[in-house]
Amino acid sequence: MRAQCLEMSIPNGSTYRIYLSRGLLDGVGEKTASLVAGRKALIVSDANVAPHYLERVCGSFARGGFEVAHEVVAAGEASKCLENASRLWDACARCGLGRDGVVVALGGGVVGDLAGFVAATWLRGVACVQVPTTLLAMVDSSIGGKTALDIDAGKNLVGAFAQPVLVACDFETLATLPEAEWANGFAEIAKSAVIEGGGFYEWLAAHAEGLRGRDYTVVQGAVARSLVFKGRVVAADEREGGVRECLNYGHTFAHALEAAAGLGTVSHGRAVAEGMRFAARLGTEAAGVTESFVAQQAALLDALGLRALDAAWPADELFARMAFDKKARGGMLRFVFATAPGIWQTMTVDADLVKIHLILWEQGVG
Ligand code: NAD
Ligand code: GLY
Repeated sequence: MRAQCLEMSIPNGSTYRIYLSRGLLDGVGEKTASLVAGRKALIVSDANVAPHYLERVCGSFARGGFEVAHEVVAAGEASKCLENASRLWDACARCGLGRDGVVVALGGGVVGDLAGFVAATWLRGVACVQVPTTLLAMVDSSIGGKTALDIDAGKNLVGAFAQPVLVACDFETLATLPEAEWANGFAEIAKSAVIEGGGFYEWLAAHAEGLRGRDYTVVQGAVARSLVFKGRVVAADEREGGVRECLNYGHTFAHALEAAAGLGTVSHGRAVAEGMRFAARLGTEAAGVTESFVAQQAALLDALGLRALDAAWPADELFARMAFDKKARGGMLRFVFATAPGIWQTMTVDADLVKIHLILWEQGVG
């Protein structure tokens, strides 16, 4: 496995680097030292990740000349909350983290979103370094600048856009990633490949077995391709005013399903994969998707182990949740449709057609 460094452009004209390699945890502090003027770092992790990797990251920042503080939050989505943000702001204050300091997210998307939000808001914004330790965080949440907290009214409703100054994907960390978490990354990789099409799609179709089997050369290839794809999308549309909507392929259905099933009942990856299947079938009537593409995409998802769900949830509940999705506009249901790898569009869809397809899905017919 060879080390890689990707340079990402952000719309304000600056760039940041994403390192992909093994053993990066031991060098991330030194790499950060040349990017920020200050020498105070707050490292945020969660209770599952910290025992494995926190000490190494703290050591690296200490070697980089930083005065290091750390905070460990509970593992899980519930940690993306205002109480934890407040606790981390207090930690920033205690360690005297100034405008030139850095907040480091060591963990999956939960830690990334929480620490990213704290970095975006402390003193109106300090530098953030992302050290993603899940496949999902490596391919999706660690880049793009979306940071978020959940509140009672819904997931990710409070947040800020703030790009990281550095991302370090250390593949060694995936050795401890629980089996069930891999599928979440696989689904986002499949989504990206379908939307990007071309070489990425063909490469993934050819390497799906290797990815599923954790061939690390393939894992790195998938992460790098996903990051290049997402980086290009975000560079064109950081604030999701247009093209960035493509990243929501499969997610309108997935968010409704996850909420209806109860968070954690259906994993995000399985829900996104099911959402891609749903969008393709709905698209046969709404957007000119062909049966051959429905089957082609299903074969890719199957090859990645993202099998179709065998349990359904009530169509009326899913519909109600879709109607309240924060991405619904003016009460209209919006979907991203892929009609072939690399060809996609967003469309508002007639509510009755969506209801019919949800009923077909519930009946296991669709
Ligand atoms: P997560 O952060 O909850 O991590 C999943 C589980 O794996 C947790 O229990 C965690 O403690 C554990 N874990 C993480 N890395 C580990 C490792 N290397 N070894 C052992 N255990 C490890 O979940 P996730 O799937 O990484 O992220 C989901 C979150 O990301 C959601 O809150 C979602 O909203 C957010 N997200 C954000 C964006 C964005 O653009 N900001 C994009 C996608 C998802
Ligand atoms: N994960 C969707 C986005 O970053 O826009």
